[in-house]
Amino acid sequence: MKNISAVYPGSFDPPTNGHIDIIKRAAKIFSEVVVAVTHNCNKHHMFSLEERVDMMSRSVSEIKIVKVSSFSGLLVDYLDKTESFCIVRGLRALSDFEYEFQMALMNRKLKRDVETIFLVPDQEYTFLSSSTVREIASLGGDFKNFVPAPVYEKIIKIKGK
Ligand code: COA
Repeated sequence: MKNISAVYPGSFDPPTNGHIDIIKRAAKIFSEVVVAVTHNCNKHHMFSLEERVDMMSRSVSEIKIVKVSSFSGLLVDYLDKTESFCIVRGLRALSDFEYEFQMALMNRKLKRDVETIFLVPDQEYTFLSSSTVREIASLGGDFKNFVPAPVYEKIIKIKGK
C-alpha cells in the first residue's frame, strides 16, 4: 500500500515474538508502521510505559520504517496526531475475534474514517501472550524462545536483582 502509515497499538507487557511477527508483516505492507505503546486501563502492567517502549524499540531496531512511540488517552485521538487512519491488530485465534471486532467498531464510531486491518501471525504464536510469558518467567520456566533477545535480557536482569 503506497504511502499509508499504520499504527499498531498495544500494551506490549512485555513484547513477544508474536508481536514482532505482526510488526514484520505490517512493515511489508505499509510505508510506515508506528508501534504505539500505551496503558490498558483493564490491566495491571508489570513493566512501566518507559520500560515497554525501551524493550520494543530495541526489539524492532533493525526493521526499517518502524517507529516506536507511546500515547495516553484515546487511540483515535492518537491517530489524528500521527495523521494516520489505519490501525493494525493481530488475530491469533477465533477467541481474539469478539474483543477485536468490538474494538474496531467502537473506534469507527469514535472516528468515522478509521480502518482496522487484521493480520494473522505465524501459527507457532497462536498460544503466545504477554501474560503467559510473565507467568512462565515468574515461575522460573524457560521463556527464551517466546520473546525477542532484548526482552529476555531485561526480564533476566530484573529477576537477578
Ligand atoms: N502474538 C502474541 N500475543 C499477542 C498477539 C500476537 N500477535 N496479539 C495480541 N497478543 C496478546 C498480547 O500479548 C496480550 O496478551 P495478554 O492479555 O496476555 O497481556 C493480548 O493479546 C492483547 O494485548 P495487546 O495486543 O497488547 O493489546 P491490549 O489488549 O492490551 O491493547 C489497546 C488494547 C491498548 C489497543 C486498547 O485498549 C486501546 O486502544 N487503548 C487506548 C484507549 C482507547 O482508545 N480505548 C477505546 C478502544 S475502543
